[in-house]
Amino acid sequence: MKKLLTLFVAMMMVLAVSCKKQEAAPEVGPGAKIRVGFSQIGAESDWRKASTVSIQEEAAKRGIELLFSDAQQKQENQLKAVRSFIAQGVDVICLAPVVATGWEDVLKEAKAAKIPVILIDRKVTVSEDGLYSCYIGSDCTEEGRKAARWVIENVGENAGIAELVGTVGSGPAIERKKGFEEIIKDHPGLKIIKSQSGDFTRSQGKEVMEQFLKSPEKDQIKVLYAHNDDMALGAIQAIEEAGKVPGKDIVIISCDGVKEMFKMILAGKANCTVECNPMIGPQLYDVIEGYMREGKPIPERVESIEGVFDSKNITQEVVDGRRY
Ligand code: AHR
Repeated sequence: MKKLLTLFVAMMMVLAVSCKKQEAAPEVGPGAKIRVGFSQIGAESDWRKASTVSIQEEAAKRGIELLFSDAQQKQENQLKAVRSFIAQGVDVICLAPVVATGWEDVLKEAKAAKIPVILIDRKVTVSEDGLYSCYIGSDCTEEGRKAARWVIENVGENAGIAELVGTVGSGPAIERKKGFEEIIKDHPGLKIIKSQSGDFTRSQGKEVMEQFLKSPEKDQIKVLYAHNDDMALGAIQAIEEAGKVPGKDIVIISCDGVKEMFKMILAGKANCTVECNPMIGPQLYDVIEGYMREGKPIPERVESIEGVFDSKNITQEVVDGRRY
C-alpha cells in the first residue's frame, strides 16, 4: 500500500511539472534569437507603410528575426503566410487581419502548434476565446465617436454627410462607422446621405467622391467623413476638380493622422484627422520579449495612445515633426 501511495505521489509530481512546463512561457536568454512571423495586410495607404516600417525597424534594432509577408490586401494570402509561419516553427505570429472574419481554422492550427498569435491594428471576430493571445492597437469605434463629436462641435446640428467607408468587412470600417453613427443618431439634422467603400485607397477615394459629386444629392453634401486619410486625400482632388473648395464648401474629417493630411489641414483644404497610431513596433516587441525572455504572460490588450488634430493644434512645426 505504502509503495502504491509513493508511486501515486511521484506520478502526480511528474504531471504537475509537465503541466507547469506547458503553461510557462519559453524563456530564452538575452543573446538568443527570437523568430517572429508577421503577416501584414499590404501597402494600401501611407498609414500601412508607416506600420510596416515601425515593425521592421524595431525588429532590426532589437536583433529579432522577422519573417515578413505582404498579403496585398487578400485574406487568402494571409492564411497561407500564417500556415507557413507555423510550418517554420516561429516563436510568435503577428497578424494584422485584413477582414474581421474567417480566421478560426488557422488560429486553431497555431494554437495546436503552441505558437502565440498577437493581433495588431485590426480585430477579428471568433466564436471561441483563447484563439489569439493579445490585441495591440486602436479602439476604432472610439475613433468614429471622436470624429462625430468633432462634427457636432465644429459644424453644428445640420449637415448632409458623405461617408467613404474602408475595406468592406474590415474591423476599422465596421467600427468607425458604428462609433460615428452611435453619436449622430441623437442629432437628427446630421444625416449620412451617401456611403460607399473606397477600400482605404487614395485612388478609390477619389473615384467614389467623383460619383458622389455627380449624384442628385451633390449639393446637400456639407461634410465628408472618410474612414482614412488616403481616401480623404483622393476625395480632395475630386472636390477641386468638381470646382468646389475642399475644407470650406465641404468640411473634411478622416482617421489616421498622416503627414500629408496634416499638410492639407494647415493649408485649409481639410479640417480634422482623428489619430490612429501605426508606430506600434516598440509595444509589440516589448510584449514578445517580455514573454520570450522573461516569461511574462502576454497581456490581452495593449492600447495605443492617440489624439485628434485640427487647425487648432497643427502648426508647421507639428507637420515637420511628423514621421509618417
Ligand atoms: O487598420 C488601419 C487602417 O488601415 C488605417 O486607417 C488605414 O489607413 C489602413 O489602410
